[in-house]
Amino acid sequence: MCQVDSVGMPVVRFALVGAGVVGSGVLDIYFRDKVLWKDREGLDLELVGVATRTPSKVRHPVEVTTDASDLLHRTRPDFVLELAGGIDFPFELAKIAFEQGTSLITANKALLSEKGEEIFKLAWDKKLEVGYEAAVAGSIPIIRTFRTGLAGCRFEKLSGILNGTTNYILTQMETQGWDYHRALAKAQELGFAEADPTFDVEGVDAGHKLSLLASLAFQRKIPFSSIWTEGITKLQSIDIRFAKQLGFRIKLLASCQFMESGFLASVRPTLVSLNHPISNVQLELNAVTYNTIETGMGLLTGKGAGSLPTASAVIADLLYYAKRRGDWTRERNTFEAGNVSPIGTGKSRFYLRFSTVDKPGVLAEIASVLGQNSISIASMHQDSSEEPIQVILVTHSALEANLRAALEVIDAKVNIIKENTVSLPLLQDL
Ligand SMILES: NC(=O)c1ccc[n+]([C@@H]2O[C@H](COP(=O)([O-])OP(=O)(O)OC[C@H]3O[C@@H](n4cnc5c(N)ncnc54)[C@H](OP(=O)(O)O)[C@@H]3O)[C@@H](O)[C@H]2O)c1
Repeated sequence: MCQVDSVGMPVVRFALVGAGVVGSGVLDIYFRDKVLWKDREGLDLELVGVATRTPSKVRHPVEVTTDASDLLHRTRPDFVLELAGGIDFPFELAKIAFEQGTSLITANKALLSEKGEEIFKLAWDKKLEVGYEAAVAGSIPIIRTFRTGLAGCRFEKLSGILNGTTNYILTQMETQGWDYHRALAKAQELGFAEADPTFDVEGVDAGHKLSLLASLAFQRKIPFSSIWTEGITKLQSIDIRFAKQLGFRIKLLASCQFMESGFLASVRPTLVSLNHPISNVQLELNAVTYNTIETGMGLLTGKGAGSLPTASAVIADLLYYAKRRGDWTRERNTFEAGNVSPIGTGKSRFYLRFSTVDKPGVLAEIASVLGQNSISIASMHQDSSEEPIQVILVTHSALEANLRAALEVIDAKVNIIKENTVSLPLLQDL
């Protein structure tokens, strides 16, 4: 039975764990709008307490403790908002919550990527909700859109910019002419990148989000471990410059495509045509494009991180599930395993940058190996200001396994090749 207040309005009680960047945004929105929600949503949302490591950071009039499990046990709220981060602590918290009948709302993609199966199953068995709108693409309402607006569709492809930090770095490398390290330092100064940016720049964070989003879109489990993940650390200014000359912009693209042989899922730097709308998604913005049989291509874009943008998604989940409290949504989050194909089975055009010695015959040698592996060259460009010479080739469409076989042979030619070859796929079609 739902509790009601003195005027008969349903009272929904929630606790907040973690009052950092996102948690403090939730508190700001809650204390600004809780009265408005009574009128607009017909709900009396009661914050029963906050558990956070440093209570002095909470400036709002609410009980604050450092002991999250005690708070849950004492108050037995309808919902707990987990905004602490990490994996072990929030996983234990989720188990305590479910055991006592409390639903979970979280922004924690790493937690769901590692422990999602267990969390979703525990919640399902108890007929409880797990809201994670804020865990993927921050303020973009992508989870709800997939669950409701596109519920009648069959997905064919999903791709997007799911990490704002790397998009900010790539944008600044292009527009300011900065190298990777300078752009990263600026991102850290502005608070877009963590002190340890590994998860962002190596594509792990985007991979966690892609796993959640693709599983939901295709209704098949696409585990993070099956996603081919490459980061942006090997990119140089010359790649950004040549991409632009060729009519492309480099983006860290997360994508998952349904093919007859299985799903092709990857996070990797990709040359995106300047005609493709995703190439214009700049700085810390995120974007998701989807192709479904029924709708064709669609695009959603917005802020993927930050205090209020992310908090707005947490609040959206809270309001959505609070309104349905007592009427379990049966939202599925566990799926049969998807058949994920090795990356080599994909076909694409490729941008290749070879670092070579300045000697006659080098190009012919590279072209010969590519030819032996059924890879034909569409165009060739060269930057010969100093050694190693940078030779840029754009291929026609090729099977990635063939390209990898060719590059293994070419990169072993230490007499002509000075650094490992950079190879990036091209995204052209809408
Ligand atoms: N920041 C974003 O833009 C963003 C976007 C999307 C998703 N997320 C996700 O949202 C979650 C929170 O991120 P955030 O940026 O808000 O992190 P944050 O600023 O580091 O905040 C985490 C908060 O949790 C507290 N905390 C940590 N461990 C705790 C524990 N064991 N018990 C109680 N409190 C604990 C921290 O205390 P202290 O104050 O003492 O450190 C801090 O207040 C993460 O899962 C993150 O991946 C963040």
